[in-house]
Amino acid sequence: MAKKINEYVKWVGKTDWELKKFHGDEYNTINGSSYNSYLIEDEKVVLIDTAWKPFDEEFVNNLKKEIDLNKIDYIIANHGEVDHSGSLPKLMKEIPNTPIYCTANGVKSIKGQYHEEWNFVTVKTGDTLNIGKHTLTFIEAPMLHWPDTMFTYMDKENILFSNDAFGQHMASEFLYADEIDKGVLYNEAIKYYANIVAPFSMMVKNKINEILKMNVKIDMICPSHGLIWRKNPEEIVNKYYEWADNYKENQITILYDTMWNDTRLMAENIAKGINLADKDVYVKIINTAKSDKTAILADVFKSKAILVGSPTVNNGYLYSIAGIMEMIKGLKLKKKKAASFGSFGWSGEAVKLLNEELTKSGFELVNEGLRCMWTPTEEDKQKCIDFGKEIAEKTKEE
Ligand code: FEO
Repeated sequence: MAKKINEYVKWVGKTDWELKKFHGDEYNTINGSSYNSYLIEDEKVVLIDTAWKPFDEEFVNNLKKEIDLNKIDYIIANHGEVDHSGSLPKLMKEIPNTPIYCTANGVKSIKGQYHEEWNFVTVKTGDTLNIGKHTLTFIEAPMLHWPDTMFTYMDKENILFSNDAFGQHMASEFLYADEIDKGVLYNEAIKYYANIVAPFSMMVKNKINEILKMNVKIDMICPSHGLIWRKNPEEIVNKYYEWADNYKENQITILYDTMWNDTRLMAENIAKGINLADKDVYVKIINTAKSDKTAILADVFKSKAILVGSPTVNNGYLYSIAGIMEMIKGLKLKKKKAASFGSFGWSGEAVKLLNEELTKSGFELVNEGLRCMWTPTEEDKQKCIDFGKEIAEKTKEE
């Protein structure tokens, strides 16, 4: 059902309450998501983005209740990924000649997925489209998070249609960010940033600076997922700026997996040591085999240091640790510290291999790591506590 935003703009997207996995199995969307599409009715009628392919029929049918499809003058595809372009084939069957405004890379990504020669109009930063009382301005935003991404700015209403940027994966009966609990909202917003936007943090800072230099007033940010930033949209812009700047809180996250609880015992005693040496630091212990990987990445993103532990198995480390290490590497985090630990019975390579992986992933190792042969004795537990104290001292803020 459409929701009115103002005299000219309506939300005509799809709220997906059931979505639990996004990007295949890459992102756990425990609170669902939405595919936000916007209909602008000025002297010309504009549709910005569509909805994910499984909802194409529902999307087009709902759109017909709002507007005669033949009255749509322009479609704007801010980003070609299927969660926003997936209803285009169904829609274009009805209005095949309607121009689709997108970047040059947008043409490539949309053609690459649907193999259709639609009426593409390629736009670049600064290009405008007059639609009557309003003018739309296009702003390319490559690698936020695909090469094809762009934003569209609507003057007079001062709305930035930012596509994935500033989004959150959450389904809600509400339309606006200020209508829901701020803690829940920002938890989803930072999870989204950590998992999707973090690898492109340098581009985030540059893009925000570029938009600030354009000196345009932004009263509302309409992203393509989640809730719309209506009050103080600069708050989320400032948050993005902060998150893009090698963000860290006074948190140390201990990630571990365990076969027979020996590495778990190490993790808990290391945590004890950190707490003894630094009462202020927040220590979070996470069993990677039993926890939500999307939330884990948000914790890693927030941490000033991570400790990674695994027993040695078949000359390597456990599957859940391997998986999360691969995901962490992809985030391209900088200026974070790390150490590794793990129990072993005979060969004991896991710590060395984890050190190599952490280094490759951009972390600064604070020491050589800690190994414990078989089940930790009282003496071993004390070594873990001392290891934790050393970590706390070496990661204290200067
Ligand atoms: Fe929400 Fe990159 O698609």
